[in-house]
Amino acid sequence: SDRMVLGPLVGSIDQGTSSSRFLVFNAKTAELLSHHQVEIQQKFPKEGWVEQDPNEILKSVLECVEKTCEKLQQLNIDITNIKAIGVSNQRETTVVWDKTTGEPLYNAIVWLDLRTQSTVDRLLKRIPGNNKSFFKFRTGLPLCTYFSAVKLRWLLDNVEEIRKAVDDGRAMFGTVDSWLIWCLTGGKNGGVHCTDVTNASRTMLFNIHSLDWDPELCQFFDIPMEILPKVRSSSEIYGLMKMGALTGVPISGCLGDQSAALVGQMCFQDGQAKNTYGTGCFLLCNTGQKSVFSDHGLLTTIAYKLGRDKPVCYALEGSVAIAGAVVRWLRDNLGILQTSQEIETLAAEAGTSYGCYFVPAFSGLYAPYWEPSARGIICGLTQFTNKNHIAFAALEAVCFQTREILDAMNKDCGIPLNQLQVDGGMTNNKVLMQLQSDILCIPVVKPSMPETTALGAAMAAGAAEGVGVWSLNPGDLTAVTCERFEPQINPEESEYRYARWKKAVMKSMGWET
Ligand code: G3P
Repeated sequence: SDRMVLGPLVGSIDQGTSSSRFLVFNAKTAELLSHHQVEIQQKFPKEGWVEQDPNEILKSVLECVEKTCEKLQQLNIDITNIKAIGVSNQRETTVVWDKTTGEPLYNAIVWLDLRTQSTVDRLLKRIPGNNKSFFKFRTGLPLCTYFSAVKLRWLLDNVEEIRKAVDDGRAMFGTVDSWLIWCLTGGKNGGVHCTDVTNASRTMLFNIHSLDWDPELCQFFDIPMEILPKVRSSSEIYGLMKMGALTGVPISGCLGDQSAALVGQMCFQDGQAKNTYGTGCFLLCNTGQKSVFSDHGLLTTIAYKLGRDKPVCYALEGSVAIAGAVVRWLRDNLGILQTSQEIETLAAEAGTSYGCYFVPAFSGLYAPYWEPSARGIICGLTQFTNKNHIAFAALEAVCFQTREILDAMNKDCGIPLNQLQVDGGMTNNKVLMQLQSDILCIPVVKPSMPETTALGAAMAAGAAEGVGVWSLNPGDLTAVTCERFEPQINPEESEYRYARWKKAVMKSMGWET
């Protein structure tokens, strides 16, 4: 049938904080052909702790690959057309495993986890002036619980099994990309232990200028360098898939999910930016081949390096810890939603927060405050407030947090963004998108194919040397059709609400001392 002459396809693993996915794209048209998604469990064994089972992560990915391949076969599409696989992943989440058994030595410590606050405090004491920005120019990051180095330090300090494995030379460290690639390329039978520059740049052990692990940082965090993966570019063949329906297909793209979304949104020019609404919310602005350092609480991170001999590009990043997670919290912890999608109806019914402000500082506040002492608050409640208002306030919180990082971005970049490119699961919520435009006072623009994270990883995989099925020449990149949301309230109204939000933020700070 004519479906058979599709030409080369590329698969993409998107392993996020809340779910795993596998998607298959047509390399010539960027059309999404099929996909499958599996939600993954988060464990909260103690207050502030967030863990995931690395084996469950792996299984969920394999299940997605198998199910997607079945769906393709039902569509009469030959899966041998899949010429490459890309990986994008939740960043910073830390896994340590035993290379002789192939088994994880502890649960993955998720990026949101707060257990390392005391580790951070202890390390800060060894830095002149307790300056959390001491390594900023080397790593792009402040010293805080978010990044992998302190999570790995905690594991070495607290898990006897891991210490023993390090002493015996059996331990391997990796972020989720490394864990997946190692397992998928053979695991204990010759798996490839690697990561890419974007993921490495989130560990705080990586020098973003030399593009290598930094011996002094490893010494400071007391991390044995032999357990670290080899750092590669974001687009090259790392190894071949050794399991499941796609056995033999090269894995040839790897990007942290936020970098992948930047690529998938075609933000290749200096000054182009995107905001992704997932569990958290991350605004990245491409700064080209120069690393720009923020004076307003943003991170400097690696955007991508699309090939061994290609230049590295940097980005400024505003990270918000809680976005989609606040919806999940309303659903799972308060039970005021049956499904996450329902929040749109509730918020639409309310049409206003009725003066209620919700600061979801569950994990402290990230950008631009980096304030670990903050905790969540809901304020401005009256007798009249109901769950619909709280649902509205939760969505508004996502928008206000984005406004804060956009303001910081505009100050750091000099040229203000005149529209915001968005993507991610939450962008299906039209109430949220309209609210976002209202609160930013600029248009919000959404691609018709919102799976930009997966698309970015697929592009990197398909363009890799030795694969060459996806062209990254500007002229060949298919422009994405958009849905636009224009501001509908007057700027004074917007400023008033934003000022109230800031007041609420001040109240959330210093709660946990
Ligand atoms: O830094 C964490 C980030 O990569 C997680 O992304 O989409 O799972 O919220 P997401």
